Amino acid sequence: MEKLIIKGGVPLTGEIKISGAKNAALPILAASLLSGAPIQLSNIPHLQDVTTIVSLLGQMGVNITLDERSNIEVQAASLTSFHAPYELVRTMRASVLVLGPLLSRFGEAQVSLPGGCAIGTRPVDQHLKGMQAMGAEISIENGYIKAKAKRLHGATIVMDLITVTGTENIMMAAALAKGQTIIHNAAREPEVEDLANFLNVLGAKISGAGTSTIVIDGVDELGGGSYHVLPDRIETGTYLAAATVTRGRIKVKNTRPDLIESILLKLEETGAHIDTGTDWISLDMKGNRPRSVNISTAPYPAFPTDMQAQMMAVNAVGEGSGVITETVFENRFMHVQELLRMGADITLKGNSAVCNGTDKLHGAPVMATDLRASASLVLAGLAAKDETSIDRIYHIDRGYECIEEKLTQLGARIHRIPSESKQ
Ligand code: UD1
Repeated sequence: MEKLIIKGGVPLTGEIKISGAKNAALPILAASLLSGAPIQLSNIPHLQDVTTIVSLLGQMGVNITLDERSNIEVQAASLTSFHAPYELVRTMRASVLVLGPLLSRFGEAQVSLPGGCAIGTRPVDQHLKGMQAMGAEISIENGYIKAKAKRLHGATIVMDLITVTGTENIMMAAALAKGQTIIHNAAREPEVEDLANFLNVLGAKISGAGTSTIVIDGVDELGGGSYHVLPDRIETGTYLAAATVTRGRIKVKNTRPDLIESILLKLEETGAHIDTGTDWISLDMKGNRPRSVNISTAPYPAFPTDMQAQMMAVNAVGEGSGVITETVFENRFMHVQELLRMGADITLKGNSAVCNGTDKLHGAPVMATDLRASASLVLAGLAAKDETSIDRIYHIDRGYECIEEKLTQLGARIHRIPSESKQ
């Protein structure tokens, strides 16, 4: 295991490039199971979660090649297994995204139940309910979802709640179903729309993705094609928040401001001066301390839960008090205990965190508990006086490509060492 050592107190300055979106790359890679033809993918980020899904597809018999420019070619001509084992699903819940494509194209799938995880119970009942409505026979045996179908048929599905991977799984299943499927109360996240755009390149007939009603006219088969994954809006927001906590001035490139309006508005409320172009965003704190803000997380286009922990770090050093309410996941405040160790003043009240900002955050040894929690600790470490060491940073490698290289490029003092090492 490794840890990150950060010597805080340096305002971030400079430019970095944003990587492709993890949460678009994962469903798009899973969706490659729907076609037997070659598919070329670009802007796939180098992340542990991508390695996990690539291993899963490889174990099933999918042919995957990587060229020198990090483009991936995937071809699922025929499969040797329809099985997603517990060992892989346990490390990455999004592995459940192979269920819809396997069932739809091959008529069978055995996918491990994801089980509990650090940020709540996160069931998959909505995924299963949707596929059952399309004619799948589903049973749960020995911790596995066992699904079968001769050929799925179209259905009208009303999601009981908004779920991102649930919407994606059903959309993928419907792409090859017989007839029309309508998903009401669908997730509107940009990554859902990116997946639909990708499937349409392969010959699917999907309209309405990006709105709460998606219509999918099933086709008999999908072909090949090339696709460039959209930029990562959460990575974008995380670096902008890092500049905010350090009172810095940065420009992020290869990104899209239209994907993060709710985040940009909150950062402006903290006092940040923001400029945007079609594919870049600059943020300047003009050396000032950020003001604390009130935030309530909710599905897109509202403020994303995946930026909640990072904004907690902003409030931890902000002027005044701010209340952050988490409405998407229960138990997503694991970073709070660690921020307290660094001198933050935060009180949890149910699903809200009331934070009185301090300008005296200090370094401390802390532990990463999940992906976005670790980002929050990195931000706090960058803003704190003295040294912070963050253990269990494998969480951060799941979702941030080259985080120390990018932060070093912005002037941060950060490096990685083995966990046993003292310095
Ligand atoms: C996706 C994102 C994750 C993000 C989350 C919310 C990916 C790979 N991951 O996760 O980064 O934090 O959206 O924006 O895209 N729920 C049910 N039953 C279901 C499905 C979900 O009750 O069948 C609940 C969950 O417990 C949670 C809420 O719905 O409380 C939203 O979860 P969901 O949108 O499904 O999250 P993921 O798709 O797992």
